[in-house]
Amino acid sequence: MAERLKVHVDPDKCQGHARCNALAPELFELDEYGNAHETGDGTVPPGLEDKAWLAKSNCPEIAIDVIEE
Ligand code: F3S
Repeated sequence: MAERLKVHVDPDKCQGHARCNALAPELFELDEYGNAHETGDGTVPPGLEDKAWLAKSNCPEIAIDVIEE
């Protein structure tokens, strides 16, 4: 069985580059300042695991954590 993943954006590190939202709009929402937050509690729905890792690796501020549960 595949591991369950969660994503988390560190609000202190996020500078609003929005690549996460462009690459994985299902997992990241942007607020009115353009900063990202994980959608819901950050749980990655089945099939979107690759997008979670892609977003993490494309954030210039290294603000995204992918947690394996
Ligand atoms: Fe912020 Fe990185 Fe996304 S800086 S908006 S978490 S790409």
